[in-house]
Amino acid sequence: MQFFIDTADLDEIRDAAEMGVIDGVTTNPTLIARTGRPMKDVVKDICEIVDGPISAEVIATDYEGIVREGREVAKMHPNIVVKVPLIADGIKAVKTFTAEGIKTNVTLCFSPTQALLAAKAGATYISPFLGRVDDISGEGMELLEQIVTIYQNYGFETKVLAASIRHPLHVVQAALIGSDVATIPHKVIRQLLKHPLTDAGLARFLEDAKKTPS
Ligand code: G3P
Repeated sequence: MQFFIDTADLDEIRDAAEMGVIDGVTTNPTLIARTGRPMKDVVKDICEIVDGPISAEVIATDYEGIVREGREVAKMHPNIVVKVPLIADGIKAVKTFTAEGIKTNVTLCFSPTQALLAAKAGATYISPFLGRVDDISGEGMELLEQIVTIYQNYGFETKVLAASIRHPLHVVQAALIGSDVATIPHKVIRQLLKHPLTDAGLARFLEDAKKTPS
C-alpha cells in the first residue's frame, strides 16, 4: 500500500519524506488555509520536497471553472493530481481531464455508487472519507471494502485512496482490505512507529550497554 501524507504543512512533509515512507501528498482547501499562504505557492514548495503524486484541490464547483482551475494547476508540475469534488460537474470535468492526460483525485466520496461513477469517468484516484463516515456512526471500512471489491470485479484502473484516516487502526484495516493508497496525517504516521515494548527494550539495551567494558 502506498502512503501519501495528508497535510500542507511543509515541516510535516519534510519530516515524513526524510523517513523515506511517503509516496505522495494530498492537500485540501482546509489544510491549505491552515498554512496562511496561497495554494499555488504551497503546492509548488511541496513539489520540490516530494517526487510523487501531489493532490491539489479545485475550488470551483461548475464544469467550466473546475476545468479552468484544474488545467492551470496541472500545468505547474508533472506530479500534480487535480482533486475534484464528487458532484455532477466534477465527474464531467474528470472525463475531460482524463482525455487530456491530466491525473485526477475524486474527493468527498461517501458511497460505492459515487465511486463507480468516478471510475467510469476515468478518475486516477477515488478518495473515500473513512473517518467522516465513522463520525456519523457509519462503517468507513465497509465502504472501502465495497469500493475495492467493485473495482476488482470489473478491472477498473482507478486507484482506491483511503482518506480521512484518523488513527493507526484505520491504516491496518485499509491495508488488510487492499486499498492501493492511504493518505495519512503526520501525527498518525508518527503513531504507526510507536510501541511501548520497543521503547522499553531500547532503554534496557542502552542501560546494559553501559555495563560492557570498552
Ligand atoms: O484530505 C481529505 C481527508 O483526508 C480529510 O480528513 O480528518 O478532515 O476528515 P478529515
